[in-house]
Amino acid sequence: MSAPISRVSRPTVTTGTAPAQAGPEVAALPEPGERVVVRAESVSKLFPVEEGWFRGGKRELRAVDGVSLEIRAGETLGLVGESGCGKSTLGRVLLRLLDPTYGRIWFEGTDITVTSQRDLRPLRRRMQIIFQDPYSSLNPRMTVRQIVGEAIQIHGLAKGAKDEEQMIARLLSRVGLRADVMTRYPHEFSGGQRQRIGIARALAVMETGTGGFIVCDEPISALDVSIQAQIVNLLQDLQEELGLSYLFISHDLKVVEYVSHRVAVMYLGRVVELAPARALYEKRHHPYTRALLSAVPVPEPGRRTLRVLLEGDVPSPIDPPKACSFHPRCPKFHKGHCDVEIPLLRELVPGSGHFVACHYPEGT
Ligand SMILES: Nc1ncnc2c1ncn2[C@@H]1O[C@H](COP(=O)(O)OP(=O)(O)O)[C@@H](O)[C@H]1O
Ligand SMILES: [Mg+2]
Repeated sequence: MSAPISRVSRPTVTTGTAPAQAGPEVAALPEPGERVVVRAESVSKLFPVEEGWFRGGKRELRAVDGVSLEIRAGETLGLVGESGCGKSTLGRVLLRLLDPTYGRIWFEGTDITVTSQRDLRPLRRRMQIIFQDPYSSLNPRMTVRQIVGEAIQIHGLAKGAKDEEQMIARLLSRVGLRADVMTRYPHEFSGGQRQRIGIARALAVMETGTGGFIVCDEPISALDVSIQAQIVNLLQDLQEELGLSYLFISHDLKVVEYVSHRVAVMYLGRVVELAPARALYEKRHHPYTRALLSAVPVPEPGRRTLRVLLEGDVPSPIDPPKACSFHPRCPKFHKGHCDVEIPLLRELVPGSGHFVACHYPEGT
């Protein structure tokens, strides 16, 4: 689906013990820090479904269902799963752009679960979002100068107009745009350039050098394949330079493998598998992850992957299947167990960091 992303500035990891068929070269990501930047505990987000829509009155749609996770300083957590499984909702809840229905959220150690928007404002400087479609998220009537300047003004970051102008020029240069684009409007740019403007806007309020958290919600999905790698590399450079943490949402599993330290797989609002990226791509324990990843073409000709095809559509999150919500589509379904008892996310081998929510994980 995407072009191979090649990168020369970062050394490739080679371990003596890696099997020869370990897959394409994956560049080593810098180790994230120990400090936890974002923490979610049993977070759920329910949306009311309009009365009368469903027989029997008011129902709720469980977009995110009991998700717990942590993201450390300088870490990228990849988030994958079929459309509608709750990825964007989770990203927005973590930033408190949506209020969680249940659960708790901490940002840099501060509980932000019920903090007022006013009190969140100083934290907002270090919590940002980059959207899939940079065009629809940039006001078409505003110039680049106004778009980036607005973010600076909201937080009162500049000492006067001249200072603001210099800040904008610096930000534009940082994302690879020339300062003379300031007077232009979003429609005058290509998709990749627009995404750079979106990134400059997100960075405008970031306090450089102190880290921060950016939800990257399908940031390259709307871009030409040839441009995707440039944006990914820009995001990685910024991460290294500024110590940023990312929740990187994408349906492109190759890109997620490339950018992520760890990957979470979501199905119907729940995280069903969570593991270091390399471990997950080498060994998928959840039948859903296997199915999802088997849809990725394997680059080397000698290596074959069992293509497990999923039966049926994703069930509705309004009335999801009982217990393990994947059970109606699962090749390993055990009646009386999978449809009765919710599988909890558990670490398969203590200390491995590889968690799976399945009663009958593969390869065990
Ligand atoms: N504001 C909303 N009101 C009602 N339902 C919503 C709202 N936002 C998302 N949903 C529903 O929540 C589920 C998860 O959506 P979303 O988080 O956008 O999934 P993804 O990003 O994985 O495609 C979907 O069923 C979607 O229709
Ligand atoms: Mg989405």
